[in-house]
Amino acid sequence: MTYPQVLLQNRKPDRIATLEEYQQSGGYQALKDVLHKHPYKDVQEILIEAVLLGRGGAAFPAGMKLRTVAEDAPFPRYMVCNADEMEPGTFKDRVLIHADPHMIIEGMIIDGYGALAEKGIIFIRPEYESAARILEREINIAKEAGFLGKNILGSEFSMDIVVHRSGGRYICGEVTAQLNALMGKRPNPQQPPPYPTEKGLWGMPTVLQNVETLANIPHIIRNGVEWYKNLAKTETGAGTKLFCVSGRVNKPGCFELPMGVRLSEIIEVHAGGMPPGSEYKACLPGGASTRYLPEEFYDIEMDFDPMREAGHRLGTGAIMVFDQKTCLVGATLNLTEFFARESCGWCTPCREGLPYIRDLLLRLEEGEGREEFIPMLEQMSKHLWSSYCAFAPGATSPVESLITYFEDEIREHVSQKKCPFK
Ligand SMILES: Cc1cc2nc3c(=O)[nH]c(=O)nc-3n(C[C@H](O)[C@H](O)[C@H](O)COP(=O)(O)O)c2cc1C
Ligand code: SF4
Repeated sequence: MTYPQVLLQNRKPDRIATLEEYQQSGGYQALKDVLHKHPYKDVQEILIEAVLLGRGGAAFPAGMKLRTVAEDAPFPRYMVCNADEMEPGTFKDRVLIHADPHMIIEGMIIDGYGALAEKGIIFIRPEYESAARILEREINIAKEAGFLGKNILGSEFSMDIVVHRSGGRYICGEVTAQLNALMGKRPNPQQPPPYPTEKGLWGMPTVLQNVETLANIPHIIRNGVEWYKNLAKTETGAGTKLFCVSGRVNKPGCFELPMGVRLSEIIEVHAGGMPPGSEYKACLPGGASTRYLPEEFYDIEMDFDPMREAGHRLGTGAIMVFDQKTCLVGATLNLTEFFARESCGWCTPCREGLPYIRDLLLRLEEGEGREEFIPMLEQMSKHLWSSYCAFAPGATSPVESLITYFEDEIREHVSQKKCPFK
């Protein structure tokens, strides 16, 4: 089964698409149109109509975010591209940057125009050094071609983009922590109000979007809202989605598929199915901060609404597949180790609760578990919901869903006084 490739249409096995190749596929046409034919507010309306939802995990409507920058808001305004991508299992933004960097640059300029934000910053994790260099080089090429800098393509709008390498913490992916990091402060999250679009970087209006969200924008402007909506399989969905598939599949990778494609199709068709002797047990559908999806959801439509209706989250669309031979207590321990290490330490439930959960899981794995650990895990997961930011509820999603769907597996660890999978 093949589907139209939009974001990955210029993907090559060994190199990026050059500026010329991007332009041959229609690149920078949307920018020309928008700057010469549309007042900046049209960008907001088009993205709202297209139902472009943020691909960084929270699914916030991109056009609505632009609209929250008040007309009389002060200048300078900032446009930040979130390329932090530290969510375990997620690598779609890296694939996009290595495939077609100008698509992201064009998306940033149009999004910046949508809020009259003339200062662009790409915040990128330090491990993505080659991606950072690609972006820096291609930003200069775009500038030489007149797509960046003063009075872009003869219009009134000017914009520059710089690349900022993160110090390297998971919490720096959260919007307010990222803005603090950019200002040289300790990257603790900050609950709104004020919202970043009102007072963000250095007290100025700041729009922050994920790499994949931005990459969609030139295509929506160029091909129209109806075209974009029709790419999705679901009634309420729009566009395509990059799914990163890893774990027990024959062909792990990053696949561009219609929004709303079924989980079963992603695994069986696009990721090459599961290896011989492996049976589907569960997956994490959208990175480490989503809930396990057991077999009863194997056919679910991978789109924001159907997932929410089923009590789950699409997250980043990074699907980690587990088979019947994989210990989910061990998998959850692994993820909780990560979260306990990455907690920014600002608030007590998260700072203290995650190591506590990790220790309970570790003792279960090592055969020291007791029955009362299950209600303790449950209670501690609930406590974490009173933490200051969305990090902690995300971190408890694997734990809470482990108890909901795989309590028997935890009990086996207790009754056998060892991990039954070892
Ligand atoms: C702990 C935490 C980590 C996050 N990490 C990322 C990240 O690496 N990349 C990203 O785009 N969004 C990340 N987000 C979501 C951002 O806060 C924000 O919602 C998103 O970047 C906005 O862009 P979008 O609307 O285009 O998705 C994270 C959120 C939390 C709570
Ligand atoms: S929930 Fe965790 S990451 Fe968020 S502010 Fe509290 S300690 Fe920091």
